Amino acid sequence: MKRILIIGASSGIGAAVARACAGQGWAVILHGRDEERLEEVRKRCLNDKDGGMSSVASECSRDGARSSGDADAGIELLLGDVVAWAEDPKSIPEIEPVQAIVWSAGICELAAGQMLGLKAIRRTLSVNLEAPLVVLSHFYRKGIIQSGGSIVLLGSESAHDAGEGFSVYAASKGGLASAARVLGKEFQRRNVSVHCLEPGTVNTPMTEKLVQAFGGLKDGHMEKMVEPEEVAAEVVGILSSRFRLRCATSDTVAKASQDKHGDTKPQS
Ligand SMILES: NC(=O)c1ccc[n+]([C@@H]2O[C@H](COP(=O)([O-])OP(=O)(O)OC[C@H]3O[C@@H](n4cnc5c(N)ncnc54)[C@H](OP(=O)(O)O)[C@@H]3O)[C@@H](O)[C@H]2O)c1
Repeated sequence: MKRILIIGASSGIGAAVARACAGQGWAVILHGRDEERLEEVRKRCLNDKDGGMSSVASECSRDGARSSGDADAGIELLLGDVVAWAEDPKSIPEIEPVQAIVWSAGICELAAGQMLGLKAIRRTLSVNLEAPLVVLSHFYRKGIIQSGGSIVLLGSESAHDAGEGFSVYAASKGGLASAARVLGKEFQRRNVSVHCLEPGTVNTPMTEKLVQAFGGLKDGHMEKMVEPEEVAAEVVGILSSRFRLRCATSDTVAKASQDKHGDTKPQS
């Protein structure tokens, strides 16, 4: 059975990925900072009728991953701030090896170009770019990502096409996509593939906050929004794939959105 670590599983895309992975019968480690929110996601994984969690529980018991008879077997919680981890990698908890890591943790703060300040720039870059690079490097070094495994990073189409106010966010996601291409080459030594998925606008609490702050999305982006479950299905597709993309920036979700809604210019 696959064992997947989902960084940023407490909300939005990460939570949807958690449910989709659990639905495949895979064991999941749900990471976030907020235990209550993570517990909610754990419950949703367990209660999801289509989630196949009973098979997860029994398989896990057989594997001895958790104590036998534990209804939550196959779902572990991992608490931690990824910025603090990046600042002090020794503080990263020890984790049993996994076959895949999905990195969904991220923030999106908007600021007009003439209002940019170092603090806000660093806040975004530290969560969206520095943390994944440092922490994934640690996981690779420590063998936490197994040979033959996969890493999926949540980039954004903003890296290529973003609206006003998104300069720092776009830069963070552009940096992540560039880094993913190089890491894909380096990690290939252990046959670990690295993918950077670049969705357009997704219906999550992150987008909801932007909508509330700015009274909507521009140019009909609300209508073009995809659901987090659609992104999660793409992630599961990558993790299930027998065919390894060597490294990459995939825009499959953005493309799916375009096919569904016509031309799109996503905003986060
Ligand atoms: N929504 C979109 O339209 C969209 C489009 C393209 C790409 N993306 C990218 O997809 C990813 C997920 O976005 P989302 O929309 O699902 O956002 P979300 O609902 O706001 O969820 C963000 C997740 O990141 C975690 N996180 C943030 N800062 C963290 C930190 N310092 N340490 C640990 N965890 C942290 C949050 O954990 P807590 O619960 O602890 O806060 C939460 O689990 C992000 O990287 C985002 O940039 C989103």
